[in-house]
Amino acid sequence: MQPTILITGATDGIGLALASAYDASGARLILVGRRPLDRLEAPLFTANSYCQADLSQADCAEKIVLFLNEQGIERLDLLIHNAGLGYYGLPEEQSADSIKELTAVNLLAPIAITHNLMPRLTGGKIVFISSVSSALPTPKYAVYSATKAALDGLARNLRVELQGSVAVQVIHPGATRTAMHAKSGISRDVMDWEGFPSAEDVAHKIIKAIETIESGKPSVTIGLGNRFLRFAGLYLGGVVDWLVRWRK
Ligand SMILES: NC(=O)c1ccc[n+]([C@@H]2O[C@H](COP(=O)([O-])OP(=O)(O)OC[C@H]3O[C@@H](n4cnc5c(N)ncnc54)[C@H](OP(=O)(O)O)[C@@H]3O)[C@@H](O)[C@H]2O)c1
Repeated sequence: MQPTILITGATDGIGLALASAYDASGARLILVGRRPLDRLEAPLFTANSYCQADLSQADCAEKIVLFLNEQGIERLDLLIHNAGLGYYGLPEEQSADSIKELTAVNLLAPIAITHNLMPRLTGGKIVFISSVSSALPTPKYAVYSATKAALDGLARNLRVELQGSVAVQVIHPGATRTAMHAKSGISRDVMDWEGFPSAEDVAHKIIKAIETIESGKPSVTIGLGNRFLRFAGLYLGGVVDWLVRWRK
């Protein structure tokens, strides 16, 4: 039987690439995004597969539950918390509304959705898409990185609490060529994302990483360079902080 997979933030970037790859493998998909259905392409996005929910809103998890009920989906094999957004700039320059939106989408929504979908996940898997930045100082990305570090903490706790009933994994991609950088307000003069790996390449590696949950890989960083960066961020913190300050 093909798995039933729910992916948040499936309308662009890594989420869209994950959705396309899982669709090609025959999985039943529930795709969550905030864009109206008529702006998305069939056959991936249909009234039966697409749940329109703005994850910055407090009722987002209830909307998803309602959609699953309407579709008669009582069980999920895999829940991928992928939706996310960034903000580039100093925290004091970021508006209160932007901080609220960023923390709601990147952190509060995964908590609320996990909470609401838990009864459907017994025997299944929950995957959090964090970032290599969660273990590093990332000037002008402070709030974003804080939400990703919090996701790491959430995943770790859930892993311990749910052991034996739901498998939990956190995945740390590094810089990827998606629209997130432009949406976050970075200009191409500051960062040229053309050279980053494609969303399809990163999604392919994420899918391979998810296949390792059963063999006990609770935390996976995508790419050798990113694994080194994460290791350095975690275990050589003082040196890394100094280097980042020096480069600024
Ligand atoms: N790109 C990178 O370099 C990178 C590196 C490490 C980790 N990541 C993580 O990977 C994940 C995917 O990022 P990406 O690069 O693929 O970014 P992306 O191309 O901007 O895609 C993000 C997805 O999240 C959706 N989303 C944003 N706000 C939402 C909201 N309020 N309600 C519902 N959906 C919302 C977006 O919808 P809209 O298109 O409508 O905004 C889009 O479908 C994120 O968690 C990100 O933090 C990315």
